[in-house]
Amino acid sequence: MVQFYKSVLVALGLFSVAHSSLIDIDLDLDLSTDNGCCPQRNEASRKEWGELTPSQRIDYTDAVLCMQKQPQHLPREEFPGVRNRFDDFVATHINYTLHVHYSGLFLPWHRHFLWLWETALRDECGYTGHLPYWDWPKWDNDLAASPLFDCSESSLSGDGEYNPGEQSIQGGSQTLPPGTGGGCVRCGPFKDMELHLGPFSRNLASTTEIPAPGFDYNPRCFNRSLNNFVSSNYNNETIVDRLLSSTDIIDFQTVMDHWPPRPDGVLGPHGGGHFSLGATLQDLFASPQDPAFMLHHAMIDRLWSIWQNKDAKNRNAINGTNAILNPPTGKLVTLDMEMEFGVLDRPRTIGEAMDPTKDGYCYSYT
Ligand code: CU
Ligand code: CU
Repeated sequence: MVQFYKSVLVALGLFSVAHSSLIDIDLDLDLSTDNGCCPQRNEASRKEWGELTPSQRIDYTDAVLCMQKQPQHLPREEFPGVRNRFDDFVATHINYTLHVHYSGLFLPWHRHFLWLWETALRDECGYTGHLPYWDWPKWDNDLAASPLFDCSESSLSGDGEYNPGEQSIQGGSQTLPPGTGGGCVRCGPFKDMELHLGPFSRNLASTTEIPAPGFDYNPRCFNRSLNNFVSSNYNNETIVDRLLSSTDIIDFQTVMDHWPPRPDGVLGPHGGGHFSLGATLQDLFASPQDPAFMLHHAMIDRLWSIWQNKDAKNRNAINGTNAILNPPTGKLVTLDMEMEFGVLDRPRTIGEAMDPTKDGYCYSYT
């Protein structure tokens, strides 16, 4: 399937549209002489959302809204649900979902995906800042009070309208209480946003094909449900500390996706962030439709880079296969394995995505 879409895109000459804007981060990089390393003084600084001034936050959300007004690069015939440039990113995520989650590709693929997003905001929508991140433990007990989700003009919008029919949710085998919204988001910068793709089943797919609704067009309101139970249990300081003290990449990946290690606790801080905002972000395939997706994944990328830097020599490694849940049929990942990004970029090796200051990247986190 993935190969099929790649072939379609190559045939249409759409496969590496964003490639030429590879290193436009205000830097003076010389890839030929320094192996793509960036001088430390020029690193772009990705900041915590609350660290930005309200007007810097609005610059970010304006750029996201701008992406929703730019024309898509994916062809309408193959991707009827893709209506704009923002949706190109959502559809690319859907297309590779069965390879890049609960697998060895998870961390490096999302690292590059975020970088492509940040680059597109800057190149295509005139954004002059960098990708902010969501520092989970700062607000884990009261999401609605955070500058991220307080629904002010400088937030990422907030809770959805209260929906009395909102059901409890399954996180692995654990039943989690419902969040406080469940309906359409009616305030903040994304109050008029329309979702176009999904929804997919919330159950982890054991399929090798992209399930229904695929890339169908399904316009509907943007739905959220803030869930402090989930964020306080899965995105707290204790779990972040435990993640950062992981002994090796196997341990790190296990904590990220399957923690606490109880039979009923399987979300980890990665799943916790997704499940703490409701159905849109819970959608394994179409989750980038919630504008908080990129900030949630920036926090994951930040913690991975902090953890890598503690022992850089020994932490240039990834564990797992190129298939979801690492089935025996999956191919073991290596640093020279290629990752695909469809219409967003040329393929990259895992090795190229191992260091935020090499191979064309030049960023760090506060
Ligand atoms: Cu993902
Ligand atoms: Cu995720």
